[in-house]
Amino acid sequence: MSEVAKIELDGKIYELPVFTGTENEKAIDISKLRDLTGYITLDSGYKNTGATKSSITFLDGEEGILHYRGYSIEQLASKASFMEVSYLLIYGELPTKDELADFEMSIKKHTLVSEDMKQFFEAYPAKAHPMGVLSSMISSLSTFYPESLDPNRSKEAKNLTIHRLIAKLPTLAAWSFKNSLSHPFMYPRNEFDYCENFLYMMFAMPTEDYKVHPVVVEALNTLLILHADHEQNCSTSTVRIVGSSQANLYSTVSAGISALWGPLHGGANQEVIEMLEQINNDGGNVDKWVAKAKDKEDPFRLMGFGHRVYKNFDPRANIIKKACDDVLEKLNINDPLLAIAKKLEKVALEDAYFKERNLYPNVDFYSGIIYKALGIPTEMFTVMFALGRLPGWIAQWKEMTENKEPIGRPRQIYIGNTSRDYVDISKR
Ligand code: SDX
Repeated sequence: MSEVAKIELDGKIYELPVFTGTENEKAIDISKLRDLTGYITLDSGYKNTGATKSSITFLDGEEGILHYRGYSIEQLASKASFMEVSYLLIYGELPTKDELADFEMSIKKHTLVSEDMKQFFEAYPAKAHPMGVLSSMISSLSTFYPESLDPNRSKEAKNLTIHRLIAKLPTLAAWSFKNSLSHPFMYPRNEFDYCENFLYMMFAMPTEDYKVHPVVVEALNTLLILHADHEQNCSTSTVRIVGSSQANLYSTVSAGISALWGPLHGGANQEVIEMLEQINNDGGNVDKWVAKAKDKEDPFRLMGFGHRVYKNFDPRANIIKKACDDVLEKLNINDPLLAIAKKLEKVALEDAYFKERNLYPNVDFYSGIIYKALGIPTEMFTVMFALGRLPGWIAQWKEMTENKEPIGRPRQIYIGNTSRDYVDISKR
């Protein structure tokens, strides 16, 4: 007998079906609630509302568990390549050797962008934030590939658009950075793998031979895997709702990039480094800044702390913290910000305010330090997040379109003026 939830409204008892997922998560299915009762639910920020049933990523916030298609983030981060994880998220299974080779070859074939797009970069002010450039460039790709405007055209066309997007985002991201320096653009090279190619386009110059450092490549591969998907977070929910209108994938992902830019979401990694630099410049007085974060009168928040789902620890933060130590040691870098971050973490984790609110370091807390060690400039940190999250956005969009989910259109409760008559301006 299937489980039900009973709700009493206006003296009448209604039964609503309970849905149980494969990891025993439970939900009350309210899809018929308004028809049955005339009531809707209210849930600001969707803190208690499931938007979909998904087979892609499983999070357990209490236990600090993160799985992509059933594989633990710890195993994938230590054993897989970012291209393997991208294939796993998008197509549902780890690729065979041949499947991975075909996937990587197909992507390598599409890393160039139309030469016409270079003119777009020239129109931006020198200090244009790369996230603003990237979201525009990704949406503009739809104008070069009109066949992508119908996302349901065919399986082959959908796959071509997916591979084009994975291939071209690194090129456009690296060019956004080069453009901010007024440096010449570097073209992708097919002898490199995905991470090597991105680092080459970011840091090589036409005047010298650039050698990609293996430690940097390995660290970037790990960071991109850790950011690859995170179920129904703000930017992924944006991608799902924009894609549910049957907008093309390029403009759908462009919307996700814009949502990720916010300092409460993916923009936090840039905010964390700026916060650590602020504390460092202020003499490293960690106690003073922890007190500011607790002060309700002070808008300052401890960036990189807290999470909507993880109420114990963010497993990605643990992996990044270890990778941080490893990379700084191998590259022989002594970054004072790492010492401040570790002291800040210790002080906060012993403080009742943070413990009572289950505030722990999240994925953004240490990622900025490692990006800095890899030579990535601060303004590119959230672009790095977008690079990692792209396969997750694509996988979630593909699942939503293949499941033929309806256009997203939440309800509301109106609290404005009740009906009233127009008053002529002479009488106002
Ligand atoms: C990401 O959703 C995802 O999965 C996101 C992400 C992904 O991979 O996609 O994991 C990536 O976005 C990580 C989060 C990055 N953002 C930050 O680090 C910004 C700082 N963190 C906060 O702004 C906050 O913790 C959020 C936005 C992450 C979560 O906010 P919630 O769940 O809406 O919680 P809340 O704002 O209601 O806070 C609850 C309480 C409040 O205090 P009280 O009103 O109960 O007294 O905790 C306090 C908040 O003031 N609080 C903080 C705090 N975060 C929450 N106080 C000080 N410093 C903080 N960082």
